[in-house]
Amino acid sequence: MVAKNLVCAIILLLLVSLGQAEAALNAHYYDQTCPQAEKIILDAVRNASMHDPKVPARILRMFFHDCFIRGCDASVLLDSTPQNKAEKDGPPNISVRSFYVIDDAKAELEKACPHTVSCADIIAIAARDVVTMSGGPYWNVLKGRKDGRVSKASETRSLPAPTFNVTQLIQSFAQRGLGVQDLVALSARLRNFSSLLDIDPSMDLDFAEKLRSKCPKPNKDRNAGQFLDSTSSAFDNNYYKQLTVGKGVFGSDQSLFGDFRTKWIVESFAIDQGLFFKEFVNSMVKLGNVSIIENGEVRLKCGVVN
Ligand code: HEM
Repeated sequence: MVAKNLVCAIILLLLVSLGQAEAALNAHYYDQTCPQAEKIILDAVRNASMHDPKVPARILRMFFHDCFIRGCDASVLLDSTPQNKAEKDGPPNISVRSFYVIDDAKAELEKACPHTVSCADIIAIAARDVVTMSGGPYWNVLKGRKDGRVSKASETRSLPAPTFNVTQLIQSFAQRGLGVQDLVALSARLRNFSSLLDIDPSMDLDFAEKLRSKCPKPNKDRNAGQFLDSTSSAFDNNYYKQLTVGKGVFGSDQSLFGDFRTKWIVESFAIDQGLFFKEFVNSMVKLGNVSIIENGEVRLKCGVVN
């Protein structure tokens, strides 16, 4: 009897894990149903970036903001309705803006392979494309995400703030199943100009003054579109090199070099770009796996639920 129960339990466990495996993301998800999907997305991203150089940084940030709220389910793309203020209109997303790039790619995809490619997958692929286009690494994006039906502006409050210390940053990432190494690897970013300048005490003072003088006035244009340094639009390990000389932009950035839990990782990325690229790719794949929903849909338009 005990043996029979045990066998049943093992079979049940196997079935459950098989079910999960089917729901897991897959690099070849659209190979049969929409083989041209990635090319269509790349074209849309390239085209938009040629017209507006701020697009790459905004798309990378969009992916992060999407995955951190309700998982990677394109909740960041849903439009507000009279009854509901959506994530898109939450304070941290106002300056993300380039949502139209994903909408454009989606419109082309609906022509080529209707009702097939989820908006969440489009963001994930576009985020890889902007990194590669900017001189960063290439990787195979895992696909098969479904789009969510819920988006609330109030939930954007749980995005990490530029004033966070390392403990708060680590907690925020841990809540999404991401570790300290992911925090450091993903913090390097393509960056347009920001006005949210929060000076960390460990920041080089001359540099802080220079940034302050370049910043647009708070509450005016929060993305003035200037570049912070010669490589801020390129994807490289310069971010870490800057941290080691006290030139991180936000308090949350510079604090990564001031804490023993993260300092050694910053140092290793600053001296080894290859290592940084490798870890960045691992962390992007992990970020793209945060809370994948199984009962979502493939939206026809990214701004509205079906
Ligand atoms: C670790 C915690 C993080 C904090 C506190 C943080 C905070 C911020 C803030 C305050 C800005 C400036 C926004 C503005 O200009 O209005 C920004 C920009 C940006 N963030 Fe984050 N961020 C974090 C992590 C990440 C991650 C993990 C990614 C992507 C993997 C990312 C991608 C970006 C990008 C690309 C920009 C530049 C956007 C632009 O210039 O248009 N950030 N971040």
